[in-house]
Amino acid sequence: MSQNWTLDDIEWGDFRPDLVDDEMLAVVKAAALVEANAPDYVTYLCNVFKDDPALCDAIRVWGREEEQHGAALAQWAATADPDFDFDEALRIFRSDYEQLPLDSDESIRGSLMGELFARCVVESGTTSFYAAMKDKTNEPVLKQIAHNISADEVKHYKLFRRHLSAYEASQPKLSKLARCRILSDRVSERNDDEFGFAYYAANIAPHGDTPYDRDYCMLAYELGSVGIYKQPHLEKAARMMMMAVGFKTNSLVSRTATKLAWWMVQRRQRHINQLAATA
Ligand SMILES: [Fe+2]
Ligand SMILES: [Fe+2]
Repeated sequence: MSQNWTLDDIEWGDFRPDLVDDEMLAVVKAAALVEANAPDYVTYLCNVFKDDPALCDAIRVWGREEEQHGAALAQWAATADPDFDFDEALRIFRSDYEQLPLDSDESIRGSLMGELFARCVVESGTTSFYAAMKDKTNEPVLKQIAHNISADEVKHYKLFRRHLSAYEASQPKLSKLARCRILSDRVSERNDDEFGFAYYAANIAPHGDTPYDRDYCMLAYELGSVGIYKQPHLEKAARMMMMAVGFKTNSLVSRTATKLAWWMVQRRQRHINQLAATA
């Protein structure tokens, strides 16, 4: 796996300030922080997979690509908003957000298989998020960046899924039920503080002494993120996740899960819009 694009490949001269959406800009700033935090994930994953040097090499390349996602999003955000100080926002994010256990070689997912499966879930989610961003924005430079990132996230999914399959021969079995539990945990973690606090660090904290309000920041983040999904984006993520669980894409379970995922997101979109209308 090697990096297949760089920031120099982005057509920055095509930038159209009149096509920047403020809600999307705020989400891009927050996403840039989360992506830029990749070095900690590399440290954590290389501790967990310390007995697999080939996988650690691939994880280091993966980490550089995730960092590049953060750099591309940050550069776009600073182009759209010259007052955006990415370094300061990242400092705030890293200083106050609870980090991964970097001094442990135990997976927080309970097993090596569980860790690889959880990575498949995350990469499925980011694939669909950036595909939705690409389709939603009319700003040509962000469209190009989101397209490149989404393609990388598919590649990342395939990397972790390939290793998950390879580990099946030597590691204790991870049942479909156990995978579904991890899937449920990992999806619900999207509602934890990481994205809300990234929104705060990127959009609110640098402009004054306003304290962190988790509910407000999560709502603001979700307004600009959950709202951009259309059915094909959700279906793609659900299909990728079901394949990692071990279900064929045309199976009844997989088709039902795909429909359920879209129903849940639509419900969430309505709820968020109602909250925003009354806020
Ligand atoms: Fe990424
Ligand atoms: Fe990724």
